[in-house]
Amino acid sequence: MEIKKIGVLTSGGDAPGMNAAVRSVVRCGLANGFEMVGVERGYHGLLRKEFVELSARSVSNFIQRGGTVLQTARSKEFPTPEGIKKGVANAKEIGIDAMVVIGGDGSFRGAQKLTENGLPTIGIPATIDNDISCTDYTLGFDTAMNIAMDCVDKLRDTCTSHERCAIVEVMGRGAGYIALEVGIATGAEMVLIPEKDLGTSRSDLIDRIVNKLEEGRKVGKKHHIIIVAEGIEGSSEMAKVVEQRTGIETRATILGHIQRGGAPTVRDRVIAAQMGMKAIELLKQGKSNRVVIMKADRIEDVDINEGLAMTKTISEDDYALVNILSK
Ligand code: F6P
Repeated sequence: MEIKKIGVLTSGGDAPGMNAAVRSVVRCGLANGFEMVGVERGYHGLLRKEFVELSARSVSNFIQRGGTVLQTARSKEFPTPEGIKKGVANAKEIGIDAMVVIGGDGSFRGAQKLTENGLPTIGIPATIDNDISCTDYTLGFDTAMNIAMDCVDKLRDTCTSHERCAIVEVMGRGAGYIALEVGIATGAEMVLIPEKDLGTSRSDLIDRIVNKLEEGRKVGKKHHIIIVAEGIEGSSEMAKVVEQRTGIETRATILGHIQRGGAPTVRDRVIAAQMGMKAIELLKQGKSNRVVIMKADRIEDVDINEGLAMTKTISEDDYALVNILSK
């Protein structure tokens, strides 16, 4: 089937770099003779026919902006069989022959269903969590980590002044990639991440923090930084107990959604541009149901079904490194 008009949408949690990816998809699409249409509010907007024609000028001033100008929303209706059919029918009604979906693995499950129902689709991975198994990198990760690193550096200053401990909760409900790399980048004493620590009892986790603080005190440390991934939960309560047991003043800080906003870093802008180009190339070659991925610093692609079936593990070396460097 000849593709003439391509739709693009952003879906799931927003991530810095999504706008840069939309810009690239639109301009590369136009350069290849395709008409380009944006779908506002992701799959939710697809069901409500929230379409907007996109020219090269429509995506001016996109490259440096955080969030997603196309907006995003969670849709309960879309993943149902009726929802998918309605989405495909709405797209076809305005002549969309293919779709580029920018988002996380939940969004790719939707993309897979669009393809199965007759709308060729390509995914571009974007989530600050970097937890999509088939790709080494997801858009937004670098920006989120830089924001978190900056915040932890600031916390370190005030912790050192007061000889305190900071328990810092970073984003990542099911994934500890942000916590782990930010832990390395900020010289944290310890990281707690879902992949390693979810099965551990609360009292064991607190014992570990207390022991670490006692060790640090003995070697003259003036501050203590513990990075906790969101999925571990309860950092405020942990801080209270740690303070009671060690006598070291301990404050919990939850960085939250601040990590999802702001201008994308160089890395996120460049990879977004490259991934957008690859998505259009794939559609031009008549390919569908693929995810654009990064493997060993190269932009490649993989079948969505295969990609969703893969598993990703954290680096044991990096996990061990946090401890080694915290002496
Ligand atoms: O997937 C990105 C992410 O920021 C996670 O780190 C976090 O657990 C989740 O989204 C929060 O989702 P919401 O913005 O819907 O609260």
